[in-house]
Amino acid sequence: MDHFQLKDGVLHAEDVPLVRIAEEVGTPVYVYSRATLERHARVFREALSGLDNPHIAFAVKANPNLAVLKILANEGYGADVVSGGELTRALKAGMKPEDIVFSGVGKTHAELRQGLEAGIGQFNIESEEEGYELAAIAARYGRRAACALRVNPDVDARTHEKISTGKRENKFGVPLDRATEIYARLAREEALDMRGIAVHIGSQLSTLEPLETAFAKLGKLIAELRAEGCSVTHADLGGGLGVPYKAGEELPSPAEYGAMVARVTAGWDVRLMFEPGRVIAGNAGVLLTRVIRAKRSGNGPPFVVVDAAMNDLARPAMYGAWHDFEAVEPTGATMTAHIVGPICETGDTFAMDRDCDALVAGDLAVFRTAGAYGATMASSYNSRGFVAETLVDGDRYAVVADRIAASAIMDAERVPAWLA
Ligand code: LLP
Repeated sequence: MDHFQLKDGVLHAEDVPLVRIAEEVGTPVYVYSRATLERHARVFREALSGLDNPHIAFAVKANPNLAVLKILANEGYGADVVSGGELTRALKAGMKPEDIVFSGVGKTHAELRQGLEAGIGQFNIESEEEGYELAAIAARYGRRAACALRVNPDVDARTHEKISTGKRENKFGVPLDRATEIYARLAREEALDMRGIAVHIGSQLSTLEPLETAFAKLGKLIAELRAEGCSVTHADLGGGLGVPYKAGEELPSPAEYGAMVARVTAGWDVRLMFEPGRVIAGNAGVLLTRVIRAKRSGNGPPFVVVDAAMNDLARPAMYGAWHDFEAVEPTGATMTAHIVGPICETGDTFAMDRDCDALVAGDLAVFRTAGAYGATMASSYNSRGFVAETLVDGDRYAVVADRIAASAIMDAERVPAWLA
């Protein structure tokens, strides 16, 4: 459930008409709903209530906006970060260092050091090499680093190949059949506190089966590790739960996910950790855009050219992803159209042959389910600047990220004197 609803014929975010935000902030602009974020955070936590003290770390990559992180920090969420930049954001938003998990296959020396200095709760080590590097840095600073070893369970998540992370050929984690020896070796490092294992097989999963298969493999691994004399007190089950992108689409609910986890992990005797991203933020945001013009095409449907583009919302161009597209002030009339942005490549297409509300030049519309992997993946391609972000709370809203004009980006560029 989300808080983007029609009221008196106008699409609102909570109690704020989107027309108002478009007029005052301009378009394109992301609009997030505080009530929806809080609701999703609580629903996910509630879904895990059958577990003993689960640790929930929001995957910052899904939506790193400071205001969004602050809401989740207030909900008691920690953070799953994958760069020094995300770590800095999580701390700035008030997440406790001990609630922060550092994931990622390519943490640099500087980032490992930054994590140690911040006193984060856990490093999810993705290779034996990374483990030794972290051990050396920790020893130099007289610290001990709490670690989980990320394993690659070789499970097909049955999602888009570009967001599938748990197959043998993917770059993530260590192969399951080598995990025990690697874990045992790393556990001998004085400066590492090897305390658990981690897995994340992909994103936007539409069935629970692959997760269950991966978790079952993890259960076996825990038993194997303990039989080898290793201590395992934590298991990080990652994120990945999908969300509906089409009205009426049915996906496994957080409650079904929580019940499956409780069943599969019964008797593991570890603290379970989770890294949800999309399921928390996805449906808590829309991308608000204005139609520049509707352009007739040959024989086919018209091209509706909107002022948002693939640089603002990359998912359709990158993954062929579907985002529901709706008028802010629907008249009841409908049309079939190709929805495109202004960028000079054919990939800048949000939808082909889409049945949608009838729209003409100047009308406002939204791409739904843009709260996760939306603004965070924006670029300034075609010198369009960076899209603004707003947060609605009841009948008020705030700009939570300024639009960064193309000229401001240009200000960071220099023409060397020797070219003059
Ligand atoms: N943990 C790790 C280690 C991850 O790599 C990810 C996402 C998550 C947690 C959160 O997964 P979620 O619960 O959001 O599915 N840009 C793509 C999604 C990339 C996901 C990358 N990793 C998209 O727009 O669909």
